[in-house]
Amino acid sequence: MQILDLKLTNFRNYSNLKLNFLKSTNIIIGNNGVGKTNLIESIYVLGLTKSFRGSNEQIIIKKDEISTKIEGTILTKSKNNYQVVISNVGKKVKVNNKKQEKLSDYISNINIILFNPDDLKIIKNSPSYRRKLLDIEISQLNNTYLKLLNSYNKVLKQRNSYLKTLYLNSFSSKEYLNILTEQLVDLGIKINKERDKFIKKINEKISTIYEKITKIKGLVVEYDSSYNNLTKDELLKKYNSLYEKDLSLGITQFGIHHDDLIFLLNEDNLKDYGSEGQQKNAIISFKLSEIEIFKDIKGEYPILILDDLNSSLDDSKINNIIKLLNKDIQIFITTTNIKNINKKILKNSKIFKITDNEVEEEIYEK
Ligand SMILES: Nc1ncnc2c1ncn2[C@@H]1O[C@H](COP(=O)(O)OP(=O)(O)OP(=O)(O)O)[C@@H](O)[C@H]1O
Ligand SMILES: [Mg+2]
Repeated sequence: MQILDLKLTNFRNYSNLKLNFLKSTNIIIGNNGVGKTNLIESIYVLGLTKSFRGSNEQIIIKKDEISTKIEGTILTKSKNNYQVVISNVGKKVKVNNKKQEKLSDYISNINIILFNPDDLKIIKNSPSYRRKLLDIEISQLNNTYLKLLNSYNKVLKQRNSYLKTLYLNSFSSKEYLNILTEQLVDLGIKINKERDKFIKKINEKISTIYEKITKIKGLVVEYDSSYNNLTKDELLKKYNSLYEKDLSLGITQFGIHHDDLIFLLNEDNLKDYGSEGQQKNAIISFKLSEIEIFKDIKGEYPILILDDLNSSLDDSKINNIIKLLNKDIQIFITTTNIKNINKKILKNSKIFKITDNEVEEEIYEK
């Protein structure tokens, strides 16, 4: 799929912006702080209805304004117009001008794979970052996944809050806790299955891709979940055995909200043993694997965004990565220096130069 045009109103540093993109490669250049990441962030928000930067959803609204609107035309087998409006009262999404009631239905329409320098720390960071990676990617592939996840989180919250009620009031009924536990287990089993399925698909691709980038064999991703290989009855027993501890802590200690992803290079956990470069290459291989998975499942390549990779990888590696990609993939690259990009790639790209909140198309001169 490709994004053909983009229209921004009061998004970050842009008051009004209209751009037409190339179906192949689009390069965004400009000095630090001019709004390169803002621009590609808007495409991400158009697809996923929230940013990859920060948890405050309203931060993307231009300062002193009350709402932002992002619009774009996406080409798949047909052409469709998408719209996201975020204001201080919430979020609205439209497809071809028709309001969509559920965000979870909207989110799997536009598929985006993003590389951001922060992603390269995913292996080092806490498990929540790796769960977030899984959740974002599976949600784009499968809209029931996001619904399951939302329900699980809701039940988890209810269960934690009821544990506190039970702790304070021993006359409260344990029956209700059992109901919540069973709901949690049912949802958890389904999420565990989806995550497992996705990681198996990653493992069909990741080792070959890692080898192409590094010439080293043996990268595997392992799904580390306390739900793995347990039946519903066994899981319910587990919660029962943890009851006293859960009660005293007021939280549910066991469940898929503690899942993790482990990157193993020939049996070594890259989190503990991997060099920075190995960790970066493993994440890059993970995301490149996803491109093919999206194509297999959705029948379309996702839009690929490479934000400021030059700050974390050397030029030859980036050019190598781009060379690995199928020609049908639409790519966005941001960089401070056009010299970082291979001439062959530049020749077939559209170049956008940002200065003073304005974006101008540049002609590439050899
Ligand atoms: N809500 C907002 N309203 C107005 N301006 C904003 C808003 N949020 C961020 N900015 C401005 O956007 C600029 C940063 O933009 P961005 O992160 O896109 O830069 P960049 O070109 O990617 O820089 P770098 O090369 O350092 O990554 C800052 O100058 C900041 O003041
Ligand atoms: Mg940036």
